[in-house]
Amino acid sequence: MEPDFHRIKRLPPYVFAEVNQAKAKLRQDGADVIDFGMGNPDSATPQHIVDKLVEAAQDPKTHRYSTSRGIPGLRRALAAYYARRFGVELDPEREAIVTLGSKEGLANLAQAITSPGDVILAPNPCYPIHSFGFIMAGGAIRSLPAGGDPSLSFRENFMAALERAVAHSIPKPLAVVLNFPQNPTAQCVDLDFYGEVVEFCRRHGIYILSDIAYAEIYFGEPPPSILQIPSAKEIAVEFYSLSKTYSMPGWRIGFAAGNPTLIAALARIKSYVDYGAFTPIQVAATAALNGPQDCVDQVRALYRERRDVLVEGLNKAGWAVPTPEATMFVWAPLPTAFHNMGSLAFSKLLLEEAQVAVAPGVGFGEYGEGYVRLGLVENTHRTRQALRGVRSFLSRADVG
Ligand SMILES: Cc1ncc(COP(=O)(O)O)c(C=O)c1O
Repeated sequence: MEPDFHRIKRLPPYVFAEVNQAKAKLRQDGADVIDFGMGNPDSATPQHIVDKLVEAAQDPKTHRYSTSRGIPGLRRALAAYYARRFGVELDPEREAIVTLGSKEGLANLAQAITSPGDVILAPNPCYPIHSFGFIMAGGAIRSLPAGGDPSLSFRENFMAALERAVAHSIPKPLAVVLNFPQNPTAQCVDLDFYGEVVEFCRRHGIYILSDIAYAEIYFGEPPPSILQIPSAKEIAVEFYSLSKTYSMPGWRIGFAAGNPTLIAALARIKSYVDYGAFTPIQVAATAALNGPQDCVDQVRALYRERRDVLVEGLNKAGWAVPTPEATMFVWAPLPTAFHNMGSLAFSKLLLEEAQVAVAPGVGFGEYGEGYVRLGLVENTHRTRQALRGVRSFLSRADVG
């Protein structure tokens, strides 16, 4: 019998599978592939955080089921972070919940609030859970396309897309997903932008789900939180994650903070589906947030150095790419000679010809076409090696 599962039919096969297969084949044949394709931080978690995990795990009391909202000390540590970093007050009881990474939080919040056919506005291109979380929950996605009129600013284009979405969606949108600094485009916004979106969404009764996974991975001005807008808590929740800030992607620990109704809805769903993260992980996460922060400066410095080497090298090789102000990604338009080729075909060609793997932009949504994403996950030595390959490939293309 051919399985015909309603939700599975709505999830396309993993978009990057084709490039991954080609990568695996090359590696099997002995090639040294330099892989900028993933967004998986490669640094070790800082030692004092690992030590805290080990210490907590020695106590058998921590081996029991934890609580699905998260231990109170960790929720207080999140509130202290928001106060320190953003000047935002959070009630750790009603306005904060611990999640198994922000991805889990987003997916379960989508389950909690979406009725079949509800319209959700999501950026395009986007990190896949920003759209598929709601598709899995039975919602319909309307895209907020990146780009737009080149004579307008990002803010103007975005607000125009929001206006159009509200005018032309039936039913009226339930929620909008925001993600700044953004994966994959590295787009950043300021507080005025958030102020305008909050005002618009309050007027139209639309919830805002903001993801600030890259809030601490910045190279210029520190990115703001939407909760800095005084009325945001009436309609907004924000997801934060320890995965990138403290190089803890495998630990699966993050948060949602903000609107108490949305937090309560997420807490209700989570009380049915999980017992919370392993307590020692939560104790170690508390140590991460409350402890010394020089490890975060080091992570920023590491990504900055890699960014500078990669961006300068690509530009020198004749591939014009912008310098990201935040995130661990370079969002690169296809080189001029290949700009009509399509991002998937270009990614496969680059892999074959330069042994360099990148993520095709179309994998993040149709408006990602024409771009590839390079993750700053290879060290500077290997990045330079990749640049030699790219340079030689591009010069061969020029001659051809
Ligand atoms: C924008 C964005 N949000 C969330 C996540 C996942 O974070 P977490 O590990 O907390 O689930 C990622 C990971 O790449 C991401 O890029």
